Order: sequence, then structure tokens, then C-alpha cells
Amino acid sequence: MSENTNLEFFNLELIRKTEVAQDTWLFEFSRPDRALLPTFEAGSHVTVVTPSGARRQYSLCGDQVKTDTYMIAIKAEREGRGASISMVDDTSVGDRLDVSTPENTFPMVDANDYLFIAGGIGITPILSMIRQLKRSGHTAYRLIYVARDRSLAAFADDLETLGGDRVMIHCDEGQADNFYDFWPLFETPGKSHVYCCGPRPLMEEIKAVSGHWSPERMHFEDFASDVRAIRDNDTAFTVRHADTGEEIQIPADATILETLRDKGHALPSSCESGTCGTCRTELVEGEADHRDMVLEEHQRDSYIMICVSRALSDKLVLRW
Ligand code: FES
Repeated sequence: MSENTNLEFFNLELIRKTEVAQDTWLFEFSRPDRALLPTFEAGSHVTVVTPSGARRQYSLCGDQVKTDTYMIAIKAEREGRGASISMVDDTSVGDRLDVSTPENTFPMVDANDYLFIAGGIGITPILSMIRQLKRSGHTAYRLIYVARDRSLAAFADDLETLGGDRVMIHCDEGQADNFYDFWPLFETPGKSHVYCCGPRPLMEEIKAVSGHWSPERMHFEDFASDVRAIRDNDTAFTVRHADTGEEIQIPADATILETLRDKGHALPSSCESGTCGTCRTELVEGEADHRDMVLEEHQRDSYIMICVSRALSDKLVLRW
């Protein structure tokens, strides 16, 4: 997925593959000669070239100290674009895959207190953060981990062992009445740094309840990266380059980023899910349908995240 052309890739061996929750698998990779791998910080991810040929980013969820293996966990998104299914269904122990050096778009800041909020497979970077806190003896944190039921909550036992009563695993059984009520945690702006990773509805909810918090305290990472940014009722529109006048039709079933690349424009991206800020593009004219988690309200007339956002007007004039 990443178009970060500076990444270095290793051809790593899949040495273990374990089901850690329903249709969710832990993959452990090592160099074939078991030599050390580059170290990484909590919150880091690697880019993996899947058997289907797609590039996808996955958080490292292992211990940063154990640098002879990289551990990632993947939930097979059966409704997704196929990369996660390819990883789950088409790999076996002993296979070799290209795995990049780690990058970190979700770094932990030094803070006195942390509030972690995770949903589904979004627990992976937070597991790594909690391992780091455990190692350093830092105990001022809480984790709220929401899942439909415990069988879907990967690493639930590990987290409870690591964090004890700082860890709350909330299972809502898919019932709206049981959804966790985050408002009491956010009603009064606090001093915690909040790290939230999970499905888009969870992150949108946290963004909505934390609007009065300092943005510097709020950190989001989207790991629904195998889910299409396109919605069923999306329609085609046109983008025009503000300087060259080049016009490109964006089909209903493709993003601006994908389409511009197909036309030969080399554009940077990372998460491709509207959370990292890498694909920020100047919006000169037109009304955007903003679907990202990055732009502040006051930036929305001037910028657009082209990996997920679309148009409400027939045409957008951009400077890419
Ligand atoms: S690539 Fe991350 S926001 Fe677009």
C-alpha cells in the first residue's frame, strides 16, 4: 500500500502463524539466518508485500527488545480488498515475504498519563505501547478495548496479564444498548494523552467526544486499511490541476489518489485511510467531501486528503 519509495525491504521467513482470535492471526517473521532486525519503537508498523502482490501496513505488536522477529496480527477482512485474506489464507510457515523496515506514524510521546482506546485489530500498536510501559515501570495508563465478544478480542489474556486492572475489555455483543459510553471519560478535558486505534466508527466517535480536548493530546491510527475507502453510493467527479489545467475524471469506484497514480502522477502516501496526513493536497476550488481524521476544521477549505476524501461539487481544483 505504501508508496514510500525509501523503504528497505527484507525477504523474511514466516516462522510462526497462530490464530489469536476468530479469523485473526499472529504472524512472526525472522531473517532466514536469524540475524537481528532493525529495532523499532512502540506504535511502529511495517509494510508487507502480501502473496496477492498488494502492499499493506501492519503494526508491530511484539516486544521492541526482541529484535530477531517482527510480529504482526491480521484479521481477515472478508469484505475487504483481499490483501488480509491473502495473508491469512495463502501463507504457510516457511514462506518468504518482503517486509519493510519499520516506520512510525503513531509515536508515543512522553506523558505522565495515557488513555488507550482500541477496537478490534486496532489493539496491535497499543499492545506494543503497553509492553513498553510495562518494561519501563510506567503504570499511569488505562486501556478500554472494545470488541463484540471475547472470542474477537485478540490478545485479551496478554493484555490483562500485562496491565491488570488498568485494562478493561468491553464486549458489547453487537447491541447498541451495550456500546461503551466514552463521554464520561472526555466530558472534562484531561491531561492524558489519548491513543485510539480501531475501526473508523470508533475513531469518529472518539473524535466527536473529544472536540474540546487539545488536539496535541489526541492521537489516532486507522487499521481498517484493508477496507475500501469507497462507499456504495459514491459518484464520479472531475479534478483539475490548478496550474497545468489537466483534468482527470475520478470514477465512482476509485479514490483520487488511485486515479492520479494510474495517470502517471507519483504521489506520496502512507496509511491510505485518512489518518496519517501524508497525502495532504492543496484544495484551490470546489467543495470537498472530507472523510479523513487529520484535518482541523479551519484547514478543510484549503486542503484535502486524497486517499479517502471525495467531492460534493462536480469538480475540484487541486494542486498536487
Ligand atoms: S495517505 Fe495517510 S491520510 Fe492519506
